[in-house]
Formats: sequence, C-alpha cells, structure tokens
Amino acid sequence: MNKNVVILISGRGSNMQSIVNANIIGAKIVAVISNRPDAGGLAWAQERGIATAVLNHRDFDNREAFDAQLQQVIDAYQPDLVVLAGFMRILTANFCLHYQNRMLNIHPSLLPSFKGLHTHQAAIDAGCKLAGCTVHFVTPELDHGPIISQGAVPILPDDSADDLAARILTVEHQLYPQAVADFVTGRLSVQDGKVINAQPTDAQNKLLAY
Ligand code: GRF
Repeated sequence: MNKNVVILISGRGSNMQSIVNANIIGAKIVAVISNRPDAGGLAWAQERGIATAVLNHRDFDNREAFDAQLQQVIDAYQPDLVVLAGFMRILTANFCLHYQNRMLNIHPSLLPSFKGLHTHQAAIDAGCKLAGCTVHFVTPELDHGPIISQGAVPILPDDSADDLAARILTVEHQLYPQAVADFVTGRLSVQDGKVINAQPTDAQNKLLAY
C-alpha cells in the first residue's frame, strides 16, 4: 500500500524534483503545495501530472491563520508524510505538532550548527573546513528535531556562498529521496528525540571509506 506524500515548496523545487524523479517504491506524491504563486517547481510538477495548490501567505493576516488553512489543504490529500522542500516559512507549533513524526525538512548545514538563513556564508565566515546538509523530523523549534541523515562536503579556499550551496545541493538530492524511502518503508524510528539507525547511512559509509 503506497504512502501518500505531500511536498511543500516555495521556489525552484529541485529537492522536490529529486524526490519525484527517484520513483520511490511505496511512495505516491499526491500533491505539491506552494506558498508562492511564482514558485518555479509548480509548473514542473504540473507537467508531470502531479496535483498542485497555491496558498499565498500574503492573503492571511497572521501565521496562525495561514497555517490552519495550509493544514486543511494538506489534509485533504490524506498524507502519511509531509516533506518540506525549500519551504521558506516558519511554522507554528500547532502545525508542527499536528504532523509530529510525519513531517521532514532538509536544511543546508550540518545541524545543530548554522540554523536559519545564510548558512553557506555563515559556515565560510566561521572558517569551517566541512559543510553539508541535514534531513530531520520537524519539531516546533526551528531547524531542530531528530536527525535522519547528514551529508558532508569540503569548503574549499576560494569558495563563494554560491559555490558551496551548489556543492551541498548535489548531496541534498541524494539524501532527501533516501530519507523519504526510509520513512515509507518504516525504517525510521524515533527514540528519546533521536532517530535510531540500525546501520550506518550511505553518507556515513562514504566517510568510513577514508
Ligand atoms: C535547499 O538548499 C534546501 O536545503 C533549503 O532551501 C533550498 C531549496 O532548494 N531548505 P530547492 O527549492 O529544493 O531547489
């Protein structure tokens, strides 16, 4: 039985595309929803026959009203999993708790370092030698929550923030489909705020090869 997956985007949606293109066994992408009418990823999804919806946050007086309506739009698709893929909105605690243990986010840093925006420049400015991305379950605290997987890349001496973002993005496109696949096959269990891995992840195995 397929699990229904709803993906939320705000922009180009390259992570959404990587998940759709992975044709994950056991996952049905039932809708792509954007808070921005001009999100490039919407047309891409429509061309592939995926249902899309737009809920413009500017039409709402406050965060609570937007999130309540968004929840209704999402729940109409009876999701087993909600995937935040470049969804650039801070979500209310009620919304996060409604999807507890069934909502994922990808963040372009090695959490818990560099939460929030401008992560790539922040890692460069801090003189880090490695950077990366993190897939995690969403909790009410921003860029927090049980970590599912992480991938690391080097920061090279002349990197701009854009160079680093591009290097990390290729890893995001590997990690996120894998995390969705792991979720739908029931391989992710949360205990004491941590995701328990029976074995090293693919990203960890690559590093173990050193
Ligand atoms: C990604 O870097 C993701 O980690 C961050 O926002 C960006 C979205 O890119 N949360 P895309 O829309 O998936 O291409």
